Amino acid sequence: MTDRRILVTAALPYANGQIHIGHLVEYIQTDIWVRFQKLRGNRTVFFCADDTHGTAIMIRAREEGRTEEEVIAEMSEAHQRDFAAFGIEFDNYGSTNSPENRELCNGIWKSIREAGLVKEEDRRDLYDPEANLFLPDRFVRGTCPNCHAVNQPGDNCSKCGSTYSPPELIDPRSVISGAVPEAKMMPHALIELERLHDFLEEWSQSGKHLQPEVANNLRGQFLGDPDSEDGAKELRDWDVSRPMPYFGFEIPDFKGNGWYVWFDAPIGYMASTKQWCDRTGENFDDWWKSDDAEIHHFIGKDITYFHTLFWPGMLKTAGFSLPEKVHIHGFLRVDGEKMSKSQGTFIMASTYLNHLEPDYLRYFYASKLGPGLGDIDLNLEEFVNRVNSHLVGNIVNLASRSAKFVSGGTLCEEYPDDGGLFTAAVAKADQIAEFYEQCDFASATLEILQLADEANRFINDRAPWKLKKDPEKAEEVRQICSIVLNLFRQLAVFLQPVLPKLAEQAGELLNAPISNWDDAKTPLTGTPVSEFKHMMQRITKAQVDTMVDESVVEEPADEGSADNESPWNDGPEALEAEPMTEECTIDDFVKVDLRVARVIEAKDVPEANKLLNLTLSLGGGETRNVFAGIKAAYKPEDLVGRLVVCVANLKPRQMKFGLSEGMVCASGPGKADVFLLDVDDGAVPGQRVH
Ligand code: MSP
Ligand code: ZN
Repeated sequence: MTDRRILVTAALPYANGQIHIGHLVEYIQTDIWVRFQKLRGNRTVFFCADDTHGTAIMIRAREEGRTEEEVIAEMSEAHQRDFAAFGIEFDNYGSTNSPENRELCNGIWKSIREAGLVKEEDRRDLYDPEANLFLPDRFVRGTCPNCHAVNQPGDNCSKCGSTYSPPELIDPRSVISGAVPEAKMMPHALIELERLHDFLEEWSQSGKHLQPEVANNLRGQFLGDPDSEDGAKELRDWDVSRPMPYFGFEIPDFKGNGWYVWFDAPIGYMASTKQWCDRTGENFDDWWKSDDAEIHHFIGKDITYFHTLFWPGMLKTAGFSLPEKVHIHGFLRVDGEKMSKSQGTFIMASTYLNHLEPDYLRYFYASKLGPGLGDIDLNLEEFVNRVNSHLVGNIVNLASRSAKFVSGGTLCEEYPDDGGLFTAAVAKADQIAEFYEQCDFASATLEILQLADEANRFINDRAPWKLKKDPEKAEEVRQICSIVLNLFRQLAVFLQPVLPKLAEQAGELLNAPISNWDDAKTPLTGTPVSEFKHMMQRITKAQVDTMVDESVVEEPADEGSADNESPWNDGPEALEAEPMTEECTIDDFVKVDLRVARVIEAKDVPEANKLLNLTLSLGGGETRNVFAGIKAAYKPEDLVGRLVVCVANLKPRQMKFGLSEGMVCASGPGKADVFLLDVDDGAVPGQRVH
């Protein structure tokens, strides 16, 4: 087998936030894969950088009264410190705000222009007249045009899930200043991705570069299937420019506009490579334009499309190598739930380091990471148990229970008969390697643990600590310990990608550094054994709990808002117009039987000025005939099918136009300003409202 040349990247962390344990899933996963490849003797380089451009960083800099450059310099240092502490080793760590990146962006942009893929078009942007900047979707919130849920983000509704563009929001507000954003038509540059459709179809569906579920999803959601009845879908144009002021590189042939952060971010992979080349004398094209080098990207599932549609499209057009593989992982959950600041599970890397050893987390993530996109659960109790029983109790225990009997001496000159244990483990080496190659670290660690179990059984059976008391058994003790230490070393080799420090300690203990996967294949003989130094400590749940306590951050009720202060400035007018009524008891409240109902029919009442006649269904054929004063606010045809809240036990009342058997709940002063209460998805007609 010829040695491979492999270029690996992990996603570039945003410069506007600290590294947390969610990020670490990715950087640890990638680092393990890189170390594995290096251990196998493959020429492997690992690049990363900070992702620095965009509106968020601009806003942060303003808030802190500093320049963007100051903010990103500080963050870069903090990121690199965290990564280093977790043993994540890059060959170069760059920045997207570097001269190398600007130059590469210029070149790639030129190629895309020359290929005729760029079109210019006026698009509507939202401008914050108080903060003097254009607002990305996330920085605008307002009322959902579909379900009328308030305080929804500018791109999709968290209540009903519908997607829209910010100008469609009702009552949109800037999250930064609270100002009403102004819609402005601004020129934009777009890449016509559809023109790369055939290429993207072929590349993504070849079965070689993407996990099957990713390829299928791309087909289902974006590409369509040319062989199916529905045929191919059309890829949407990709808007890659943002009007200035915008913290980013200005587009040379499109003055007054910067590249959207997602245009220059992946080019940052190359810029980081370029810095490394300039430092080491390597040739850039040998890595990015050569068929002999494989490019592997590791990313989380949230940024799939950037790496599997836009990025391959850019690379192809500009004549660079395409990724051999894009490895996509799922999201971290803690105790089965999304990381949460208020629960203390949004744990920063630096907080973790105040309490626990990085290798515990490396090991735990490895034991959880499979080749798929499923989320990874950090169950804190399981974390403690695994560290204690697998790592300390099973693996390290082998060394701590055997080394002390031979420290200061040497291993046997000839490897003693171990009943086939060492050879059996050698026989597993290829399988374990294949698991690493496929990013199935969970299976790799499981195999390794089983080997450790057998080694432990061996030492328990032979009990050198008992034999030790009999001076005549000294040679037997030495033999047992030579075997166990060799089995331990074998495991340390297999685990080196996950636990580089343990491998180093094993190398020191037995005076034979571990530098290659094949070190697991031949037992050491006759080498000196150093004094045993403690390798790893058990942990307690209390340590973990303290870390969680330290991570608790009081959050405003509205998570996900980019601003702590309410930007809504809701006035007192409504309360003043209709002051609160006197206190009521729960009994008073339950007398009113509020129910979820579906409007199944809505008719105009031509003789009435204000009324619509609604038929409400409570499910199972139970209906109510209701006259509601909402004619000026709603069209009958818009109401049919929607859910409302109705007073279902209101005494029926004979009206001029018919019998009214209830009321629908609505707010507002009247006329056009009437707002029906809405019911979130999932509710069913007939349910009581408490
Ligand atoms: N800046 C972009 C990536 C640009 S790559 C050209 C970005 N940055 S990020 O800081 O938000 O995320 C960096 C990586 O960490 C992403 O791959 C993301 O999926 C991953 N993760 C961030 N939070 C995560 C979890 N909670 N769990 C697992 N991975 C997560 O995206
Ligand atoms: Zn909605």
